[in-house]
Amino acid sequence: MMSPSPHGFEGRVAIVTGASRGIGLAVAEAFVAAGARVCVTARDAPGLARATARLGDAVGLAGTVADPAHLHRLTELAMDEYGRIDVVVNNAATNQPYGPLMDADPDRWREAFTVNVEAPLRLTQHAWRAWMRAHGGSVVNICTEGATHVGPGLGAYSTSKAALLRLTQQLAGELAPGVRVNSVSPGLVRTEMARFVWDRPNQDPATDLPLGRMGDPQDIARAVLWLTSTAANWITGTDLLVDGGTRVRRARTL
Ligand SMILES: NC(=O)c1ccc[n+]([C@@H]2O[C@H](COP(=O)([O-])OP(=O)(O)OC[C@H]3O[C@@H](n4cnc5c(N)ncnc54)[C@H](OP(=O)(O)O)[C@@H]3O)[C@@H](O)[C@H]2O)c1
Repeated sequence: MMSPSPHGFEGRVAIVTGASRGIGLAVAEAFVAAGARVCVTARDAPGLARATARLGDAVGLAGTVADPAHLHRLTELAMDEYGRIDVVVNNAATNQPYGPLMDADPDRWREAFTVNVEAPLRLTQHAWRAWMRAHGGSVVNICTEGATHVGPGLGAYSTSKAALLRLTQQLAGELAPGVRVNSVSPGLVRTEMARFVWDRPNQDPATDLPLGRMGDPQDIARAVLWLTSTAANWITGTDLLVDGGTRVRRARTL
């Protein structure tokens, strides 16, 4: 028998980090459209306030995910306002320091791992203790198509995202059966973070993409929504690649 809701999000609560723009905002919008309430964060308070107003059924707390105390307060806000935390989407990230690893500043390297790896772990711990351990839930870590191979300039970023992939698998094993933990790995998506790749004169980054276009934040949001929904309730510890075919593009270059 079909459930009354195709997604099962009515009455559910999702925490989304990095939700003032780009992929995080699209994910938060998708949850609200599916009937959930969202608790969101980003560093810039005015930007977050605009996003929260646009979302409607949402509360926001400005701050950095690099601060464990902020992540704790975010969890408390979700519990105080909505009384539950069904979904956590660890989306906020930094792609700095950019450049050869031999030049990488140690503090900025540590910052990449704090934001991209430690923060997802800390927020998952808070949500687990506050709600998920007793009631279950679903966690999605936003990774990247580039986490599994090397490339110029983004060594710190891709190394930290590779660690996030492994963290996802480890948590999936540890938190089962009550909490599912998966990741979504976007290819190139038209956002501020990736502007340095797609906003170049006389270059179309979509030329060699099998599906013929760059991603929109909504392409990633739909994948996150599905992966956290009841439709995916036998899936944990997996990475869902949403990349327009980036990984298979070499098959086209005869
Ligand atoms: N765009 C792509 O092509 C692409 C490809 C692969 C993976 N991804 C991944 O997708 C995710 C979202 O990226 P995006 O492209 O949507 O980036 P974006 O448009 O630059 O948005 C990043 C969001 O995160 C917030 N943020 C950044 N650092 C933060 C911090 N330390 N604490 C709290 N919030 C923070 C930003 O707001 P504030 O600046 O106000 O904090 C903003 O809301 C990231 O995990 C990224 O690695 C993106």
